[in-house]
Amino acid sequence: MDNKYLGLTPPMGWNSWNTFTEEINEKVVRESADAMVESGLADCGYEYVVIDDCWSLRERDKNGRLQADPEKFPSGIKALADYIHSKGLKFGMYSCDGPLTCARYPGSFDHEFIDADTLAEWGVDFLKYDNCFKPAIAGNILYRRMAMALRNCGRDILFSACNWGAEESEKWIRSTGAHMYRSTGDIRDSWQSIKSLALSQICKISHSGSYCFNDIDMLVVGMYGKSTNEYIANADISACTDIDYRTHFAFWCMMNSPLMIGCDIRNMNEATKKILTNRDLIAINQDIEGRSPYYLGSTPETPREYFWMYKMLSNGDIALGVFNFSDKKRGMALQLFDLGLPATTGKCLRAYDCVNGEDFGILPQSVYVHVEPHDCKIFRCRIEDIK
Ligand code: GLA
Repeated sequence: MDNKYLGLTPPMGWNSWNTFTEEINEKVVRESADAMVESGLADCGYEYVVIDDCWSLRERDKNGRLQADPEKFPSGIKALADYIHSKGLKFGMYSCDGPLTCARYPGSFDHEFIDADTLAEWGVDFLKYDNCFKPAIAGNILYRRMAMALRNCGRDILFSACNWGAEESEKWIRSTGAHMYRSTGDIRDSWQSIKSLALSQICKISHSGSYCFNDIDMLVVGMYGKSTNEYIANADISACTDIDYRTHFAFWCMMNSPLMIGCDIRNMNEATKKILTNRDLIAINQDIEGRSPYYLGSTPETPREYFWMYKMLSNGDIALGVFNFSDKKRGMALQLFDLGLPATTGKCLRAYDCVNGEDFGILPQSVYVHVEPHDCKIFRCRIEDIK
């Protein structure tokens, strides 16, 4: 690989799956690339436009190569890649370590090197690599094999592994060469799903870091139950509010998760745009050191539904997050002593509220805030002398 910064910070972009599932085509992808630029998402750092499953024909060609479905992609993948690049964006695609993808299109098992070469020829910059139909005896070698193929295909391709956190992947996935890896099952557009994925990740945060980030799955912000797949839409169970979406986004930012948007970015409302373009939260997510947050609670394996966490930032600031995943309003206390900053140091914290975009003033030694159900606060704090 030539680009030594590939995967240095959590990848940001858009992925077709949550909203479009199998109803993906060239028009949607081009329009989404247009929208990424016109809506200001690209200016905030979103760069990858990724086609998920269901883009190919059911058979390889006579040379064993993957071929795009000409009805969905009449101009071909290379032309689509060129279009996306012409907008200053990067292009991602999807395959799987088994002989079939999860939606039963051809997977890359036993074709890893030829597929990596094909992706490189097309101008692909990102590969999401799923885990369906993997032969049981393969263990984790298939992620290693595809990483080798990608690193030797002559193009910088970011490797997004997707084995859903199975087989304790946090313990070995970094060694394969993956730049990010799904550490969860699939997200659905509901608060229950956001909450259960979020709480399941607290015990895994120390495994996440630069060049291999834990991926809590694609964002559902702004979907409002709109998906071609009923299971993902989940609308019969519960629709998310904008507060739910905001907390979802803030948590993904604090956790250094990749930020892959899953809604239809061609039709975002103002609330969705505001959440996804919160530059203060994105700056925390993209901090160059990629340090994991620290959970200020006793048992990360069975975390409380409401908690504080903090993250050391490279410029000396501290990001302080307080999350309430419960259904009740909570009063939440924090002693600066617990961050390692008692008054005896002569220092205090000046806080900026990143969610509301306003100065919050000097924090007292004993901080106490009320957090509404499903809500959160994220403070970016600067260390100052006590006056
Ligand atoms: C799996 C992945 C999803 C999506 C689908 C596509 O379920 O976890 O993110 O890629 O496959 O079939």
